[in-house]
Amino acid sequence: MKRDALVFYSPVDDPEAWREALSAELPDLDFRVDPDVGDPATVDYALVWVPPSGFFQRFPNLKLVTNLGAGVDRLVRRDDLVPVPISRLSDPGMVAMMTSYVVFAVTRYARDIHIFERAQRRGEWHYVHPRPLSEIKVGVLGLGELGGPAAKTLADMGFDTYGWSRTQKTIPRVTCTAGAQAFEEILRTCEILVCLLPLTPDSRGMIGARELALMPKGAKLVNASRAAVIDEAALIAALRSGVVGEATLDVFDIEPLPAGHPFWTLDNVLITPHLASITVPKLAARDVAESIRRVRRGEPPLHAVDAQRGY
Ligand code: NAP
Ligand code: GLV
Repeated sequence: MKRDALVFYSPVDDPEAWREALSAELPDLDFRVDPDVGDPATVDYALVWVPPSGFFQRFPNLKLVTNLGAGVDRLVRRDDLVPVPISRLSDPGMVAMMTSYVVFAVTRYARDIHIFERAQRRGEWHYVHPRPLSEIKVGVLGLGELGGPAAKTLADMGFDTYGWSRTQKTIPRVTCTAGAQAFEEILRTCEILVCLLPLTPDSRGMIGARELALMPKGAKLVNASRAAVIDEAALIAALRSGVVGEATLDVFDIEPLPAGHPFWTLDNVLITPHLASITVPKLAARDVAESIRRVRRGEPPLHAVDAQRGY
């Protein structure tokens, strides 16, 4: 009898770590690493990160596509993918990593560490009296699997925390709002703004020159979701003029960020190479396996993506 087969593709993830983690969950699974896929017609599942265009055309009998990450913007609305359930990853390891990134970036600004980094480079003892965290208004855009826990952790730390999403949420000690008017309000209110919105047709370019100008002058921006939610040219102009004081950016329109890109030369930008949160195979394999079991039973997978909505 044919064993169920899975094709693995990722330019960044370790296939052997995934093979080991998944075979512990599903010993009967035939794990194939692209391009060594055998007969593509016998492949049932795909476990992929940013597969090249045309990738899925080779696999006519897919029953499930699992995204090796949280953001599915490169997976939905493709013309090579027949309608098939799409699942994405979301596990406690990923949540913990993103929360740690957000806590680091927000605390660095709230505790003036970026100022001390510059002072140290000048060889200067530069005292700035610390402000209580309760006086620092921090906003989180997107209160999903990652944004929700990040906002809750910031609030638990004592920040005056605001959160915004498409539909209304309730998070202890976080002032949650939803909808277009509340979007402008959170921009006007928060001196540190964290973006954890998925990239969709609705969110693309949602923060442009007008929105950046609504923020308190010199506000700090942290983007750990997708670059295209923020108009990159407008952000560069705002960082140069001081409309935006500082930015911590993990994601970029072009990755790796090309040599000579203006961000490299801006002293008020901290660049990290798209790793705010990554997937740990040992932690995520249980969900991937459970989704396969569910699809085998004719049920929807875990963390199913609404392809129409885009996340
Ligand atoms: P998620 O669980 O799908 O949550 C998305 C949140 O954004 C939800 O609260 C949703 O509101 C809100 N939202 C979506 N579209 C909106 C809109 N147009 N207006 C207002 N709110 C909107 O996603 P997640 O797991 O938290 O991940 C968020 C993003 O982080 C991913 O899509 C990915 O791009 C990025 N990411 C980056 C890294 C990295 O290493 N840099 C790692 C992982 C993920 P509702 O709940 O009301 O629908
Ligand atoms: C990483 O960017 C992810 O979406 O998981």
